[in-house]
Amino acid sequence: MNLYDLIKKRRSVRNFKDQEIPKHIIEELLDAANNAPSGGNIQPISIILVQEPERRKELSKMVGDQPWVKNAPLSMIFCIDFFRIKKWASMFEADFKGEKALSHFLIAYADLMCSAQNVVILAESYGLGSVYIGTILDAIDKVRKYFTIPHYVLPMMVLSIGYPKSVPKNVPKLKRDVIVHREEYKELSDDEIKKAFEDKYGSFDDNLERYFQRIYVEAVEADKQEKPEWADPEWIKKEMKKLNIKNTAQFLFKFKYPSEEMVKLNENLIGAFKNAGFDFF
Ligand SMILES: Cc1cc2nc3c(=O)[nH]c(=O)nc-3n(C[C@H](O)[C@H](O)[C@H](O)COP(=O)(O)O)c2cc1C
Repeated sequence: MNLYDLIKKRRSVRNFKDQEIPKHIIEELLDAANNAPSGGNIQPISIILVQEPERRKELSKMVGDQPWVKNAPLSMIFCIDFFRIKKWASMFEADFKGEKALSHFLIAYADLMCSAQNVVILAESYGLGSVYIGTILDAIDKVRKYFTIPHYVLPMMVLSIGYPKSVPKNVPKLKRDVIVHREEYKELSDDEIKKAFEDKYGSFDDNLERYFQRIYVEAVEADKQEKPEWADPEWIKKEMKKLNIKNTAQFLFKFKYPSEEMVKLNENLIGAFKNAGFDFF
């Protein structure tokens, strides 16, 4: 398969076989991570490999009981790592203040995702599947403690990897022209925006099974495995009724990512950054 087809076909996988990944493949995945672009080539990242079943289980719990994290034979925790650079700089009478410089932080986060995405694509080419786990951001303190992560190191992303038992179909995407602006930004009208999301999600309908298939792939996938409460379709249906949810925008920002709750997460996140010695605020 050529790279274009592979990238177009890739879907996040959440249903993994109980099958080890050969060691030489894991090493190549790590080489792919290590050879990603990096701002200034500073490489401010570390990757923690999680393979032991007990640790997989713990990580899974910390990121919100997402069953695929414990079922995947390998998870990589991608960390912004300023600990190593600060030490190195100070040993040579230089001062690195990434923990206070938002610019270093943002570039490091971009570096981290470049590395992780290199792994995603190479893994895909070996017939592996993977899924990012962003909810690690809600558990930075716990993850730092459990995985003995020092100051100036922030675990920012998990990538769970394994051989797929099944791959989701029909994951909706915006049409390409919605995200592309040629030579200058062209603001879409209200109607164009409505149409863009209608084209993506289809219309909201009462057949919740069908609806979930399109818009809540995590619930569908969790339903094939254990049913953690947050993704149990029966429970979700009840909550949606209670909240009187009438369309996909409401589903996303009243139920899945409730706007007030998302803002409240700032406090926890800023606290976790401070605990790790980061302070841009
Ligand atoms: C930054 C980021 C965070 C994500 N966090 C999660 C997560 O916590 N749990 C999960 O099941 N999927 C997670 N995903 C996967 C997305 O749900 C998935 O990419 C999206 O539904 C589009 O599907 P696709 O990857 O198959 O194209 C995350 C993806 C990204 C890029």
